[in-house]
Amino acid sequence: MTRAITLHDVSKTFARGVRVVDRLSLDIAPGEFLVLLGPSGCGKSTVLRMIAGLEEVTEGELLLDGAYANDLLPAERRMAMVFQNFALYPNMTTRGNIGFPLRVEAPQADPGPRVDATARMLGIEDLLDRLPAQLSGGERQRVAMGRAIARRPSAFLMDEPLSNLDAKLRNHLRAEITGLTRELGVTTVYVTHDQSEAMSLGDRVAVLRGGVLQQVDTPRAVYALPRNVFVAAFIGTPRINLLRGVVRAPLDGAMTIGLGKQALRLPEPLCLDHQLLRVQQGREVIVGLRSEAVRIAKPASARPGEVLLTGLVEHVEFQGHEILVHLNTGSRPAVVPDLEAPRPAARPVRRRRRDGTVLDRLRERAGALRAGPVAVVDDAEEPGPAVTAPDGRLPGDLIVRTTPDIDLRHGMQIPLLVDLAHLFVFDQHGDRICPAPARLPDLEE
Ligand SMILES: Nc1ncnc2c1ncn2[C@@H]1O[C@H](COP(=O)(O)OP(=O)(O)OP(=O)(O)O)[C@@H](O)[C@H]1O
Ligand SMILES: [Mg+2]
Repeated sequence: MTRAITLHDVSKTFARGVRVVDRLSLDIAPGEFLVLLGPSGCGKSTVLRMIAGLEEVTEGELLLDGAYANDLLPAERRMAMVFQNFALYPNMTTRGNIGFPLRVEAPQADPGPRVDATARMLGIEDLLDRLPAQLSGGERQRVAMGRAIARRPSAFLMDEPLSNLDAKLRNHLRAEITGLTRELGVTTVYVTHDQSEAMSLGDRVAVLRGGVLQQVDTPRAVYALPRNVFVAAFIGTPRINLLRGVVRAPLDGAMTIGLGKQALRLPEPLCLDHQLLRVQQGREVIVGLRSEAVRIAKPASARPGEVLLTGLVEHVEFQGHEILVHLNTGSRPAVVPDLEAPRPAARPVRRRRRDGTVLDRLRERAGALRAGPVAVVDDAEEPGPAVTAPDGRLPGDLIVRTTPDIDLRHGMQIPLLVDLAHLFVFDQHGDRICPAPARLPDLEE
């Protein structure tokens, strides 16, 4: 049996009145694999625990197969939870651990056949008589999965089940988890803060920030059409380049987006998306360029839709199959707070100290504005070469990917071609304005 899970305006407030989940609505179809993705502290585990019945829903409704389920006991929900710190009973063998919930559920029945079938499915038949201390981390995690599967639950709830494992095993088990949940056809809600894990596992990904749902969509759609700058920055590696820009739309000349010392000149005739930017004339926007939107190439090789920028090489990061080039283009980066770091404790907004370092001021700024969708660094000074931006990025405002055969060195000035078909523009609130949101009915035709 698999089931539909619906959250309708669900909120969670803990004792001291802090709302950690805020009016969350989600419709999870039977058999769907939904990933809850977000930075630490954004409320992912709390949502999962409310679905499991381990945490009360403060406001709103939880529906299982369309029936009101807020008050159902955890056991009545027949869901299986797998945690990051999976606890196996140390004095029971694998057989005992997998069979335990079955014996609790039906003390008279023989759990043997179900345990054997589960072990076969997970390829752990050889481990049935071993104690947890005699198993590796990955094997233990498999036994924990076995314990969850054996009960034939109506849904799997997995809370970062792989984060304690090394990268190779994690990849291997990821593939196993998708295979298994597809085979069983059981609705799965999987929590992670790792965007690549979310993208590779989910039928859909729900991005949470500060307890608020930002977007829920297929991995392809959240990458290609992020609703706001937070989603854009959270998804994709290397992280999208976010630059502060100003739209200039003179009546008698070409429309441009000023990026500090340089500008992107929008090609004529303007496409519909660029025409829509006209209303932003004179306003500050945030320009998003993923690494595939920029290439290092001679100006003469520009293809239609590509415009020229130049950049000063600040740092070259060798990755083996490619290199990441950190460039200074004379623009100022926009900073999105609480992307990966734990949410800083609420603190009063301090007056800016004139004698602080640029880094202090950047940090303060990022902390102070974390409640908004995006904070931009608005100090007049540009960070000097020794400064790391608050999100941990190295100096330079633009990261470009290239093949490892190009010889690039610190201090070189190089031409960049920007493909404007891949241009993202976000308004000051961080909402995407280019490509235009599809919800403009009169402009659809
Ligand atoms: N029992 C509790 N009482 C008070 N606050 C809590 C409680 N449990 C969680 N919180 C707070 O709720 C917020 C969300 O916590 P939650 O564990 O859901 O985050 P998360 O997204 O799972 O984070 P992580 O990725 O670090 O596991 C946090 O700020 C946390 O401190
Ligand atoms: Mg958690």
